[in-house]
Amino acid sequence: MKQGELLYSGKAKSVYLTDEDDVLLVKFRDDITAFDGGKKEVLSEKGAFNARVSEYLFRYLERHHVKTHLIGMMDRSTMLVRRLEMIPLEVIVRNVAAGSMARNYPIKEGTPLDPPVIVIDLKDDARHDPMLNDDLIFALGLSTPEELATIKREALRVNSVLAALFDSLGITLVDFKIEFGRGKDGVYLGDEISMDSMRLWDKKTGESLDKDVFRFGKGDVMEVYRRVSERILS
Ligand code: ATP
Ligand code: TYD
Repeated sequence: MKQGELLYSGKAKSVYLTDEDDVLLVKFRDDITAFDGGKKEVLSEKGAFNARVSEYLFRYLERHHVKTHLIGMMDRSTMLVRRLEMIPLEVIVRNVAAGSMARNYPIKEGTPLDPPVIVIDLKDDARHDPMLNDDLIFALGLSTPEELATIKREALRVNSVLAALFDSLGITLVDFKIEFGRGKDGVYLGDEISMDSMRLWDKKTGESLDKDVFRFGKGDVMEVYRRVSERILS
């Protein structure tokens, strides 16, 4: 498989064409950003850790009958994926109130949410990713009722599979963000699932094991990413 032209460069990953029409390379870079790109740093090896964890979680989800874009790995930080027509929705699933939910609504951080809460934002940096509801999604022509139902069902399935996995590792899956895209035969889980896109709390100590360490300067980000990767991959 040959790396072709750069198709897209986002905040933390670069996407390349290949010599096959329906295959892309997703390179996880060492850039880390928070607060709409307001805080930025480069952390050596971060891309490789997130790529490895993402690969592991995608394979795990495939074994639990979730269709993902993963085909394989090119190198430690580059994933070979099925090309999708991405749906510009940030699908967030929450098991515990934290982050923007605790900031914007009258609920205390740490409050368990049962059943889990799905929040869907428009993926549009220039508009600061405004929150959507079903009617807005249909009015904007972003998805159909049938497709949105599939997206929500799959998001909840991803949540129950991963929440159980993390629980067995002594970690609470507080919340996470995923993206979906359209493939030849329906909707696939795309993008990534990594320490950059999940909130993970140690069940014993409550310690953050994710990008909140970077967002709020809670310690050595790479030491935490290394430690949590080892726990997940062990
Ligand atoms: P954000 O950080 O808010 O997710 P971004 O666009 O800056 O946004 P990156 O992760 O840096 O995000 O870029 C990766 C891009 O590749 C995203 O736009 C994502 O939607 C897109 N992408 C992921 N998987 C696929 C795929 N299988 N086919 C096509 N595009 C994909
Ligand atoms: P959220 O609490 O809404 O935002 P913030 O982390 O900025 O306070 O985030 C919920 C979860 O989704 C959290 O695990 C981070 C993840 N997420 C992303 O990975 N990218 C995004 O653009 C957003 C909005 C959230």
